[in-house]
Amino acid sequence: MPQYQISHSPRLSGEIPISTAKNAVLPILAACLLTKEEIILHQMPRLTDTGHMFDILSICGATIRQEGKTVCLRVDAPQSPMENELMRTMRASVLVMGPLTARCGECCLSMPGGCAIGQRPIDLHLKGLQKLGARVELSGGLVQISGKLTGANIYLDFPSVGATENLVMAATLARGVTRIENAAKEPEIVDLCHFLSAMGARIAGAGTANIIIEGVETLHGAEYTPIPDRIEAGTLACAAALTDGHVLLQGARSDHMRALLFKLSEAGVICREDKKGLRLMGKARHPMEARTLSYPGFPTDMQAPLMVVATQTKGLSVFLETIFENRYMHVVELKRLGADIRVEGQLALIQGGAPLTGAHVTATDLRAAAALMLAGLVAQGQTILSDPAGHLMRGYEALEEKLRLLGANTGRIEASP
Ligand code: UD1
Repeated sequence: MPQYQISHSPRLSGEIPISTAKNAVLPILAACLLTKEEIILHQMPRLTDTGHMFDILSICGATIRQEGKTVCLRVDAPQSPMENELMRTMRASVLVMGPLTARCGECCLSMPGGCAIGQRPIDLHLKGLQKLGARVELSGGLVQISGKLTGANIYLDFPSVGATENLVMAATLARGVTRIENAAKEPEIVDLCHFLSAMGARIAGAGTANIIIEGVETLHGAEYTPIPDRIEAGTLACAAALTDGHVLLQGARSDHMRALLFKLSEAGVICREDKKGLRLMGKARHPMEARTLSYPGFPTDMQAPLMVVATQTKGLSVFLETIFENRYMHVVELKRLGADIRVEGQLALIQGGAPLTGAHVTATDLRAAAALMLAGLVAQGQTILSDPAGHLMRGYEALEEKLRLLGANTGRIEASP
């Protein structure tokens, strides 16, 4: 069971490279199912989620070769993953649905389960595929999809990131033109569309609410490097803001992080775009208001890390979580450290300035794990973060090590047997 030890840390300083974005890599890996030609991907982050996606792609018929951080994939004869434990537990596995249906005319996979932060249904993915002409049957915990896809007009009731990705991928090989209205606009969607275009797809409007895809007969191989991780960069930016740091996040794309950088600037942190990345200086002092929204609004994945920053400012901060129904689970753990936070439904009221004291805390989900590690940086004494489900490693490439390289007192310890 992974456990981390965090002690009160001095101001962070130095430069650190930002890893490639998990949320860009996962759909791009799924998109490899769309072609029989070889795909080469560079700067693959070492995460358990990417490892699980490799396992799922192998089950789907991929041969995968990894040399350092470069991965070469080829899927000669794709097949459905069927009933599979990984499919049930890893939410992003649902992204193989669109590509497999588009390439094979059918697909059968386990329904993904809910997860700690909410129910996370896939109705929008399935409705969209039905619009493209697929038949969808749900039985015995399996989703069975079949039919040749034809371009259609799709309106998403909510700009779901995963549904937009699945439907864009499915539409690349559908006959005719597909228009997705109220599409998600996240940078990871734009990156997926760039990758698909490098494979020969015809896509316009990525990054806007209207994406138009003109189906093609086949897609070909490509070589690609996905974008840097705006959430990892944002988490490290919050760590700097907590410790009055002076940090350069190498390669960070501040154009992908506007909402967070506005919040940090309002709180008093100097955020400067640099040709090497993003530079942060100073401490967050003023309280803030943050409402999670779809991109370009404030990202739900940054809500927990920014809340830790809010605990250290002077005054009342107000957060509103609108994307997931159960995404305040870190609050009870932060309170264990001494934070003064009240949750009322979707609203969290954070009275900043309460001193934090180290304690034993438990990670409940990926971003909660990161937030608790950040809280340990400013808590007096020692914090032990238990992460029985290995959440942190799912989405961060050794966050404790990156923080340590910036001067933090963080490290991984093995739990006693
Ligand atoms: C992606 C990100 C995740 C991020 C989230 C929101 C990846 C691998 N994960 O998750 O880190 O927190 O976007 O920015 O990219 N919904 C439905 N029906 C559906 C699909 C979604 O009701 O068919 C709801 C969800 O329950 C949730 C909301 O829409 O309340 C947002 O979900 P969505 O945008 O789909 O998130 P993911 O793609 O799962």
